[in-house]
Amino acid sequence: MLSENTIKIVKSTVPLLVNAGTGVTEYFYNRMFTHNPELKDIFNMGNQETGKQPFALFNALAAFAQHIDNLDVLKSALSRISHKHTSLNILPEHYPIVGLHLIETLRELLPDAFTPEVEQAWTEAYALLADLCITQEHGLYQQNAEKQGGWLGARGFIISQKQPESEQVTSFTLTPKDGGQVAEHIPGQYLGIKVKPTDAEYMEIRQYSISDKVQTDSYRISIKKECNEPQGIVSNYLHSLSEGSEVDIFPPAGDFYLQFNDKPVVLISAGVGLTPMMSMLETLVEAPLLHSVHYLHACENNQQHSFAKRVNALCATHDKVDAYTWYNKEVIETGIVDDRTMFTGLMELSHIKAQLPIEEGDYYVCGPNAFMSFIKKQLLLLGVDHSRIHYEVFGPHEAL
Ligand SMILES: Cc1cc2nc3c(=O)[nH]c(=O)nc-3n(C[C@H](O)[C@H](O)[C@H](O)COP(=O)(O)OP(=O)(O)OC[C@H]3O[C@@H](n4cnc5c(N)ncnc54)[C@H](O)[C@@H]3O)c2cc1C
Ligand code: HEM
Repeated sequence: MLSENTIKIVKSTVPLLVNAGTGVTEYFYNRMFTHNPELKDIFNMGNQETGKQPFALFNALAAFAQHIDNLDVLKSALSRISHKHTSLNILPEHYPIVGLHLIETLRELLPDAFTPEVEQAWTEAYALLADLCITQEHGLYQQNAEKQGGWLGARGFIISQKQPESEQVTSFTLTPKDGGQVAEHIPGQYLGIKVKPTDAEYMEIRQYSISDKVQTDSYRISIKKECNEPQGIVSNYLHSLSEGSEVDIFPPAGDFYLQFNDKPVVLISAGVGLTPMMSMLETLVEAPLLHSVHYLHACENNQQHSFAKRVNALCATHDKVDAYTWYNKEVIETGIVDDRTMFTGLMELSHIKAQLPIEEGDYYVCGPNAFMSFIKKQLLLLGVDHSRIHYEVFGPHEAL
């Protein structure tokens, strides 16, 4: 427990972090990577270049400090961070390292504001936050280890099948090298994959959503080849691997998942954001459907439309499932999707407003952040309560 005085000091110095700016965050990461270069095998060094992760960490610390006397407010953020951390195999021994470089950075760069009293308060506050994360992460690691087919840390998997789904997306079936079972995932969750790409300086870890229903002996993920310069390190490397290659996998994680709460479901995705939706859809159609399932997808054109045939087949065999498609560019090949449920341009939900379960449905959204913001705004305007809008960011989390 923190004292009244510590809480007061931490809250009053929140602006130190909020106004820290990129100079302080860059200094922090440079300091940490110089003293502890082994952490370069954990962090995505590309995110360092683009500045996304530095903001995520400092924003989280500032938010924590702001609510230090009411940590309940941070429950969902803490859960999300802990899930992400477990997919990276962050361990208790990593926390003092981050804490040390954080405190030292603030002391070195802001000597006037960061008095010994403030330093003491922040040291205690960081210890509390670290403790909350470590406890939550310990629970998640335990759960994964205790599940049937579960494990702790990295486990070797073989790419047992590669299946192109569209121009840029290929599915990979991953089977444990040890021949054992895999741990069950909740549809929507992702895996952490650790590889050492050819010519890469460091190990790289990325998350990939599982794109199929639960299978006992394998996972399927579907990966977009990130071709824009500079080319994506891990996605290009994985695409270059052939069947039979080995990769290390951390167990399923993530707090974006199907709620199983007996309500209509609306799955909304753009581009490769369809992967968690495919896992949810394949799971929902396994049992008799009591409610409608609407699958809404946007992509550039039909050459980039993954799983189109599979979704059509599911619509044809399940009365309660329907699908709507938005192509941003020209239709290259006709007959892939039903013309009556196909639109061009951006995903305008007003086109299908009458079909949507506005009052009771659960809405799952995944795609680029600008797409998700656009969709969320429309859903709120249509009258969907924000508590029924769930979304996943394929990168460091950002509020929409
Ligand atoms: C929860 C979650 C689930 C995900 N699920 C999926 C999924 O199902 N399928 C999928 O394909 N992806 C998924 N992703 C995204 C995936 O984890 C990777 O981020 C993605 O494959 C890109 O990784 P990469 O190593 O290829 O690219 P990186 O090397 O990490 O680069 C990422 C982007 O940053 C740009 N970049 C890199 N360095 C710089 C620089 N110095 N300056 C400017 N730009 C730069 C690159 O051009 C690229 O566009 C998911 C992510 C998360 C967090
Ligand atoms: C209490 C301390 C910490 C806080 C508040 C914190 C906060 C965060 C937040 C907010 C994110 C983004 C989550 C998301 O995308 O949803 C994140 C991601 C991440 N964290 Fe932490 N973290 C802490 C400690 C650590 C430690 C000790 C390590 C390991 C040394 C670590 C490594 C990472 C990595 C590697 C990512 C993924 C982003 C990337 O690769 O660039 N974090 N953390």
